[in-house]
Amino acid sequence: MSEGLVTVSYVGATILFILSLGGLSNPETARRGNFYGIAGMAIAILATVLGPKVTSYVPLVVAMLIGGSIGMFAALKVKMTEMPELVALMHSLVGLAAVLVGFANFFDTTISLTGVEETIHEIEMYVGILIGAVTFSGSVIAFGKLSGKITGKPVLLPARHWLNLAGLIGVIVIGKLFLSAGSGAAALFYLVIMTAIALAFGVHMVMAIGGADMPVVVSMLNSYSGWAASATGFMLSNDLLIVVGALVGSSGAILSYIMCRAMNRHFLAVIAGGFGTGGGTPATGAQPEGEVQPIGAEETADLLRNAGRVIIVPGYGMAVAQAQHTVFEITKLLRDKGVDVRFAIHPVAGRMPGHMNVLLAEAKVPYDIVQEMDEINEDFPDTDVAMVIGANDIVNPGAQEDPNSPIAGMPVLEVWKAKTSVVMKRSMASGYAGVDNPLFYKENNRMLFGDAKKMLDEVLSALKAG
Ligand code: TAP
Repeated sequence: MSEGLVTVSYVGATILFILSLGGLSNPETARRGNFYGIAGMAIAILATVLGPKVTSYVPLVVAMLIGGSIGMFAALKVKMTEMPELVALMHSLVGLAAVLVGFANFFDTTISLTGVEETIHEIEMYVGILIGAVTFSGSVIAFGKLSGKITGKPVLLPARHWLNLAGLIGVIVIGKLFLSAGSGAAALFYLVIMTAIALAFGVHMVMAIGGADMPVVVSMLNSYSGWAASATGFMLSNDLLIVVGALVGSSGAILSYIMCRAMNRHFLAVIAGGFGTGGGTPATGAQPEGEVQPIGAEETADLLRNAGRVIIVPGYGMAVAQAQHTVFEITKLLRDKGVDVRFAIHPVAGRMPGHMNVLLAEAKVPYDIVQEMDEINEDFPDTDVAMVIGANDIVNPGAQEDPNSPIAGMPVLEVWKAKTSVVMKRSMASGYAGVDNPLFYKENNRMLFGDAKKMLDEVLSALKAG
């Protein structure tokens, strides 16, 4: 394939990637968006493989077979609830690739540049390895935190801001020394030291982040992986990689901004760390006032049957229990009886952006009854039953009522303002942020204990019987 044809293919692939991003911004066009992305990637790979820069096919085909098989195996095997971990792991690979390409460039004796061109190439290498190393180690730690292999609690070193500042000054000074050291052992030494600092910075940055800020961190690492890919594109003189990396980098940055706004947090405060404490265990501290009032499936069905308006709040537990199909069965039944049923989606419900929308779309819930937090939050006072399915942090009134709560200030769905709220979960355990939830003790709240799928099946049978 000629250089000209490769360029034309790259332009085509870029357009398809932009269309893909546009499509993914709305559930109704997301499937089309995915298709554009697949087509763009297929064209990009074909044009690169068949392009004039490739001289030997054997290692390329072997690498593609190994990589493709691992990717296919992971996509088939990984559960929907484990997707954020997989994404974090993928980001780490992009970072590692940038580091390896950077070092390969350094050792490549066929590159003979002089003057300004040489300096620019050295800066590309240095910055590429720097971003790649931060992305790699940060993503590995994020994977550990999301999968529960590393504590979700923020690990805050004393004088951590000073440590970060010292690291930043260190890489700038070492960068200057690297640029004036030529290409010998001294330059390699500076490159290795900078890589070590960048790796340590990635670990330190993500370790300091508390459970409740993990959504922002995942999208931030997504952005970093884009910039790392872009830097790799500069090192390899591959225009498509530069453009695609920039698209991923900037869309990840916009997503981080949207996440920060949804959590009512400043980006720098997220990086500084410490928001939310960890997950899965009952939080310590003062016990909220009031009594927990359990409810059964039959009574829940009665409440729903007699309601005029119902709002369903899905959370991580619905994903774990795979209860979305039963939820829709119940929704259809209630709507047939004339009950107004809608879904309220919190921006960080579940474990990845759009997690709940994907599950509800899979169960074929109509898009027009699925509403974002900002659209629906003020409707809770006019609602008879707010049904919370495996959600916890996103319906925690402590975020509004308790200024000392670790999640104080985070916007939440105000389910306690409904006439009755029913929370479906297995125990009194806290959610991802590790914070106790005063909602469970409110007078108008009922707890339907058990696995969400099992309990919803019972509610559905009771509704059908009644
Ligand atoms: P969580 O606060 O994590 O609460 C989920 C609840 O589901 C748990 O308290 C758990 O209680 C219950 N549960 C688990 N398995 C269940 C099952 N089989 N049946 C019924 N209930 C079950 O979830 P949320 O309210 O969706 O909030 C999301 C949290 O994750 C936020 O803190 C957010 O910051 C964080 N986070 C979000 C993202 C993104 S991008 N969405 C990424 C990373 C982290 P039991 O154990 O008692 O059943």
